[in-house]
Amino acid sequence: MKILLVGSGGREHALALGLKADKSCTELHVAPGNPGIAAIADIHPLVITDNDAICALAQQLSVDLVVIGPEVPLVNGAADVLRAAGFAVFGPSKAAAQLEGSKDFAKKVMRDAGVATARSFTCTQQSEIEKALDTFGAPYVVKDDGLAAGKGVVVTNDRQAALDHALSCTRVVIEEYLSGPEISLFGISDGRNVLPMQPAKDFKRAFDGDEGPNTGGMGAYSPLPWAPDDIVEETYTEVLAPIIAEMAARGTPFVGLLYAGLALTDHGIRVIEFNARFGDPETQVLIPRLVTPLATLLYKAATDSLDDEVLQWRDESAVTVVLAAQGYPESPKIGGAISALPTIDKAQIFHAGTSQSADALLSAGGRVLTVTGTGSDLTEARDRAYRAISQIQLEGSFYRTDIALNAS
Ligand code: AMP
Ligand code: GLY
Repeated sequence: MKILLVGSGGREHALALGLKADKSCTELHVAPGNPGIAAIADIHPLVITDNDAICALAQQLSVDLVVIGPEVPLVNGAADVLRAAGFAVFGPSKAAAQLEGSKDFAKKVMRDAGVATARSFTCTQQSEIEKALDTFGAPYVVKDDGLAAGKGVVVTNDRQAALDHALSCTRVVIEEYLSGPEISLFGISDGRNVLPMQPAKDFKRAFDGDEGPNTGGMGAYSPLPWAPDDIVEETYTEVLAPIIAEMAARGTPFVGLLYAGLALTDHGIRVIEFNARFGDPETQVLIPRLVTPLATLLYKAATDSLDDEVLQWRDESAVTVVLAAQGYPESPKIGGAISALPTIDKAQIFHAGTSQSADALLSAGGRVLTVTGTGSDLTEARDRAYRAISQIQLEGSFYRTDIALNAS
């Protein structure tokens, strides 16, 4: 099977390794990829916002499967263009990707599917906004309705800051604050069936102790020893299966990865958000633990064939830590030289924002590398991840030191 994977981050590097490890994958192409991915796959230049260019590349390479990594091409309808041209695609249609592309749409689908989430109001006028803020009170949760690259959500006790953010959005969802630990749990769907993956924990704030601004994610671990034993089953029954059924009933089946961001509240599981693609950096701890051959799995999902499939997992723990560039997330400094990468047993380095010059690996984005350690428990996995990341030098870069610290 020839596969084209679209994307260039740490998530795609982890997916590329997983796809490549499945012997049914005979050729792996990644576009645009990055220097780490180039070491294991053929990479091709690509502007990922250009649906026709994605389709032309798939045709030129005559691939059997296209896997779309990031949300932007999904929300732009890249999967529809590819399907219309006859390709098997792992990734939802434009209509189904609205689960990530519009918070208001996601709320409506949850309402119709009977899935529990924070109560909310969708507003466009200042008077509605103020009424919504005062209905729920502090802490205020204000979400830009559309895609905002991780910058759309403000959670604050400051009413003025909440109001300012709400007024800066064209349409805004204001919702009740949910308290309780947050987890990420993904489902792989062919549009009818959905296979829940294992849960992972993501660290969204930039600095230790959950201080600092929200980011795309600074680290993750899996499994979660503290989570209830039935968390996977419960999320399947209460969230993933009803959403997949509702999307199918609407005539817009969701084929791809349904990412559920959940709060485990005193009243039960509540959905914080959906994404329409693999999470980053959660993927960097899930794929190394997955035994089920990835290329075959994603092909089955893309071709409506997941009946009777069950996911198998290694009895191992994984911890990933992100190396971020100076100034991330506001204004990351790029172009810094990265020292030689260490080789440590059971520590895997995934490239995210890197570029290769004639003589050095350079930083090219906010999240530069993610380092995943695996081991028999989280402590061992964590030690390996930190041993590796502490040996990487990039001027001004930083990483959190508390990923999975209090997890076991
Ligand atoms: P999102 O982009 O929707 O994941 O939101 C970013 C972060 O804001 C989440 O990971 C939560 O930490 C926080 N957040 C979002 N919605 C809520 C909510 N209703 N209650 C509490 N925290 C929330
Ligand atoms: N780790 C959060 C995300 O992928 O959106």
